Amino acid sequence: MSGQIPQRFIDDLLARVDVVEVVGERVKLKKAGRNHLGLCPFHQEKSPSFTVSADKQFYHCFGCGAHGNALRFLMEYDKLRFPEAVEQLAARLGMEVPREGADDPRAQARERKRKEGVNLLELSASYYRERLKMPEAEGARRYLAERGLSPEVQQAFAIGYAPAGWEALKRHLSERGVAEAVQIEYGLLVHREESGRTYDRFRDRVMFPIRDIRGRTIAFGGRVLGDAKPKYLNSPETPVFHKGRELYGLYEARQANSRLERLVIVEGYMDVVALAQFGIRNAVATLGTSTSEEHLGRLFRMVGEVVFCFDGDRAGRQAATRALQTVLPQMIDGRQARFMFLPEGEDPDTLVRREGPEAFEDRITCASPLSEFLFEHAAEGRDLATIEARERFASQVLSAIGKLPEGVLKSLLLTELSRRTGVDQSRFEALVTPRDAPQDEPPLAAEPGRDEAPRPARGSGPAGGALSLMGRVLQLLVHEPRLVERLPEESDWYPGEDPEARLCHEVERLLRAGRYRSAQVLLAHFHGTPEGERLAELARRELLIPPGARAAELDGLVEHFRRHRLRPSHQEEVDALLSKQQRGERLSQEERQRLMGLLTELKG
Ligand code: UTP
Ligand code: MN
Repeated sequence: MSGQIPQRFIDDLLARVDVVEVVGERVKLKKAGRNHLGLCPFHQEKSPSFTVSADKQFYHCFGCGAHGNALRFLMEYDKLRFPEAVEQLAARLGMEVPREGADDPRAQARERKRKEGVNLLELSASYYRERLKMPEAEGARRYLAERGLSPEVQQAFAIGYAPAGWEALKRHLSERGVAEAVQIEYGLLVHREESGRTYDRFRDRVMFPIRDIRGRTIAFGGRVLGDAKPKYLNSPETPVFHKGRELYGLYEARQANSRLERLVIVEGYMDVVALAQFGIRNAVATLGTSTSEEHLGRLFRMVGEVVFCFDGDRAGRQAATRALQTVLPQMIDGRQARFMFLPEGEDPDTLVRREGPEAFEDRITCASPLSEFLFEHAAEGRDLATIEARERFASQVLSAIGKLPEGVLKSLLLTELSRRTGVDQSRFEALVTPRDAPQDEPPLAAEPGRDEAPRPARGSGPAGGALSLMGRVLQLLVHEPRLVERLPEESDWYPGEDPEARLCHEVERLLRAGRYRSAQVLLAHFHGTPEGERLAELARRELLIPPGARAAELDGLVEHFRRHRLRPSHQEEVDALLSKQQRGERLSQEERQRLMGLLTELKG
């Protein structure tokens, strides 16, 4: 990954881009007075309550509370991560996105490499596609036809053919000035150490390009036409391709439907393509690995529901158990995971051809919810008539529940477990309550919000240095979202210019809109952005103010801001000094005095 995008670039970008234009390309807008008005793309509505303001460069929905600037809109609507949204806005203005540390020659070299790689892979993909049209590809075309893939679906997935020679691609690329070393690095050429010989990795295979979410080819999978081994050959790990992170078909699924709500995870390339051929265009495949946390994180950022599809055999059940363990920690409120098992000896490709797409859709619809699968799985082969069996059953379910984040699902599962075992729920609750709270703390239940904070990340110590005042407001909101009701209706108390205040304002809007009942959903909203990191950091910090005193603390802070609409330079100076201290650097005598002075002034 390249470095952080500097904040001044983002500010500059937002100053140049027009939110009305960005939104207008995706949502039909009508001018209404000073604003533009349209149907909100973020919730179902019949009369328009979605406004876009050219003056403020904001959009706001009075129906669902969706709100933000051009960047936020792209993230939400196009389901992009923060850096991707920045890239996209920058591209339309013809601006190059700078990266912090980009002056570093090594970072520059890395970036050059990345571009070089992407070009090279793109070049190869179009080469393979062209070759599929040639006479030599007769066998490949026949193979694809026999597997029942229409020209349309072949095109949608940009399927191609790698010719049979040893050096076809190598010659093509070398003629275009691509160094052999680079071809090797991106996995297209194999290099034999002993002989020094190089040759095409993919020969006489049907080629499936693997594309990233923006449609850029990052790797290939190639299938033999017959029964030779290995059946599939994949690109090795390269600077742009990491198997444990990428999913085949994600780009194509998004192309087919930009408002995806559910994705089905299957095993193979052919499964994805065959389902698409039958109109089921929301399947993705992991690339010969089991589903990783990274895969799921990526999918859940795009859709609320993920359906795992497994073979009905023993290996399939084992894979399902692994998937369950991986998905548990990610089940925050609003997400759904379901499990489906195919009849033995079938895969989605064979089944959809045999049964037709409606029957397959029905199977998806009937897939077991996570809760059902969890209980079934724990009970497997056990007759729960004996106390011992129930004990083992309960302890297996409990260990799974312990991995869940706080939320509705966790409580429901505890209730259900107690119903099934006849043991009082409070007993179970005690067993799955996090135990890392100091003994003299009030019980977690009396402190909403705190238990919703994610576990401290590796290496993150206890509360860091002092927080800025706005940081304290944010921290209160993150730990106890319902405090948002104490904030004044009018937002004129926010100091302008302060990025932390901007974030706080956004958090306030989201909480008020009622879509973010818990800190976790809030954190998920910002996940993968610098704001998300900041909020997660605040959530991890222990809130030292006792529950009864928090409202008053918040009132005090707001009152302070109201009275002292501080000159931003002061606030910035304080923040700079505080963060210096936080980094563990010593402040000089002079700096300490300045900080004291400023803080006294801030406190009024
Ligand atoms: P399968 O062996 O189940 O093949 O591999 P399939 O998807 O049904 O393929 P067809 O229908 O015979 O064409 C499932 C997935 O495992 C990986 C590939 O990602 C494949 O799609 N795999 C399989 C490999 O990487 N290499 C192999 O040799 C075999
Ligand atoms: Mn198959």
